[in-house]
Amino acid sequence: MPVIAVDGPAASGKGTIARAIARELGLPHMDTGLLYRAVALKLWRWGGDPSSEFEALRACHELGLDPEDPELRSEPVSKIASSISAYPSVRTALLARQQEFAGQPGGAVLDGRDIGSVIAPDADVKLFVTASAEVRAQRRLRELLQRGMKAHYEDVLADIQARDARDSAREVAPLKRAPDAILLDTSELDVDEAITEALRLVREKLGATAQSQP
Ligand code: CDP
Repeated sequence: MPVIAVDGPAASGKGTIARAIARELGLPHMDTGLLYRAVALKLWRWGGDPSSEFEALRACHELGLDPEDPELRSEPVSKIASSISAYPSVRTALLARQQEFAGQPGGAVLDGRDIGSVIAPDADVKLFVTASAEVRAQRRLRELLQRGMKAHYEDVLADIQARDARDSAREVAPLKRAPDAILLDTSELDVDEAITEALRLVREKLGATAQSQP
C-alpha cells in the first residue's frame, strides 16, 4: 500500500491536498505540522521560553494532541512552532511517531516540510506543493478573517516570508524539495483545481510504479 509524502511551505495548500488524497485513496492522514504546533502550544501555556532548546524538548514528552483545539492555529503558536522546529532534539523526539505512522501496513499520507526527505525518503509518491508568497499570504489572510481574527495583508505576507526564510535556512531538515519530488505550483489554481491536479499526479506516479514492477 502506498506512502504519499506531501511537503511545501506555509499556506501552500499542502494540508488540503493531503487530506483530499487520503480521502480519495482511503488512506490514513497525518498533518505533521500539528505535532510541532502541539509542542509550541504546550510551551506557550507553560509560559516556557521558545529560545531554550531544553524547554522545547521537555514539552515533547507525553505530548497530547487535540487537533480541534483552535489555539493550535493561533499566530503566537504558529510563530513558536516555526522556531522550535529548528531544534534537532525536538525533531528527533517527534521522528518515531511520524515514521510509525508512515510505516503502517495499509499505507499513509503525511504532510509537512521534510516527509519526502527525512521521514519517508522511500515514499511511493512525493509531492512538493508551492505557490508564490503573495498568493499564500492572500489565502492565509482569508483563513484568518474567516475565523474572526484581525489581520492585515502586509503583516501576513511578512510573517510568511520570515517563516519561509527560517524553515529553509535551518540546518536540520530544512524545507527543500526532494530531488524526486513532483512540483505542484498552485499559484494559479483554486482549491478544486489543485486537488484534481494532485490526484492526477499521484495516480500517474502510482500507475507508472506498478507498471515498472515485475
Ligand atoms: O502550513 P503552515 O506552515 O501554516 O503550518 P504547519 O504545516 O502546521 O507547520 C507549522 C510549523 O511547523 C512550520 O512553521 C514548520 O516550521 C514546522 N514543521 C516542520 O518543521 N516540519 C514538519 N514536518 C511540519 C511542520
